[in-house]
Amino acid sequence: MPGSILLTGGCGYIGSHIATRLLAAGEDVVLFDNLSNSDAGVASRIAAICGRAPAFVEGDVRDRSALDRVLASRRFGAVIHLAGLKSIAQGEAEPLKYHDNNVEGSRTLLAAMDAAGVQAIVFSSSATVYGTPAPAAAAAGCREDMHPAPVNIYGRTKLAVEDMLRARQQAQPELRAAVLRYFNPAGAHESGLIGEAPATDCGNLMPQMAQVALGRRARLRIFGNDYPTPDGTALRDYIHVEDLAAGHLAALAALRRGTAAMTVNLGSGQPRSVLEMVAAYQEASGRRIPHEMAARRPGDLPAYHADPGLARKLLGWQARHGIGRICRDAWRRELACASSA
Ligand code: NAD
Ligand code: UFG
Repeated sequence: MPGSILLTGGCGYIGSHIATRLLAAGEDVVLFDNLSNSDAGVASRIAAICGRAPAFVEGDVRDRSALDRVLASRRFGAVIHLAGLKSIAQGEAEPLKYHDNNVEGSRTLLAAMDAAGVQAIVFSSSATVYGTPAPAAAAAGCREDMHPAPVNIYGRTKLAVEDMLRARQQAQPELRAAVLRYFNPAGAHESGLIGEAPATDCGNLMPQMAQVALGRRARLRIFGNDYPTPDGTALRDYIHVEDLAAGHLAALAALRRGTAAMTVNLGSGQPRSVLEMVAAYQEASGRRIPHEMAARRPGDLPAYHADPGLARKLLGWQARHGIGRICRDAWRRELACASSA
């Protein structure tokens, strides 16, 4: 599957890091994004990092004619599909919007790929598809052969697309699809030029800690210190966005080697508590992060992390960066955004 790579959602947080790596690897990349949670300026920041800019087409994955036009514009070998909405809380409040963007958008994209003869896709799914792992599985790490049982709308939209990809693959065995289940993406490119959009406020831990370290919020609220974990706060698997990006290139390489279909976790395999993250962020930023204990956040799980064994086996991939590096890079990006604001 030689040819260019179409990167939907390529102007966003994770997409911009993948674009940088693809360009550095000599690939021809087209970003396709409706800019609902990003800005087109990312292309020039990517160019500042790797010396050349990706092509950018503004468009929506629900717009079949826009997809047909872009797919006809050059010979594409694969699509890396990240375009979508990602807030768990917003998904609960606006389920139709989430189905429309995430599921209908993906269906439209797959139909356009079929029409254009583009056979390979890498899809960004989420660890949220696992739902509430049984205690033994939560302790050992989530494995891809666990039965998925998402407990929120967002997770259900991701699982619906996974199912669509698997069904399509069975019907057309010549197609290739890699489903990547991300754990908790965090960190930023070491240049500080790209990272999570400062405007993004999904209430996630990393941006909340940044707000406190920057003095924009008085203190961090830690949601729950009565979980059955070593320090009572919830455990997650934080994965550096640069490691995540490398995982996409590894998946693409596996598809090119002939792997037809795979569903793979992208996580570090290291459970980390909220208090451990606060300590790491304080050290990285040199700032205090005053915090207070608050009630558990509805819908939060006590603990889960990846079993990263399959990614190592199928992709030869594993996370390289720990939470110290994650927090240093995230903080550098926050300072860059604060100084340019
Ligand atoms: P992001 O919001 O920064 O990037 C998504 C990009 O997609 C944005 O640039 C947005 O403008 C674009 N987009 C949204 N809807 C679109 C549409 N209909 N057509 C075209 N473009 C559209 O988010 P991110 O963190 O980079 O996440 C990328 C993908 O990874 C998403 O699919 C998300 O669900 C998934 N994911 C993210 C996380 C996370 O915590 N960041 C975890 C697991 C999975
Ligand atoms: N947390 C706090 N205080 C805050 C924010 C978060 O204590 O102000 C805690 C949460 O309770 C949780 C942990 O920090 O225990 C991580 O919370 P995040 O909101 O950063 O991330 P989640 O694990 O809830 O979810 C994230 C993404 C989802 C994705 C999931 C995959 O937001 O989109 O990881 O594992 F599906």
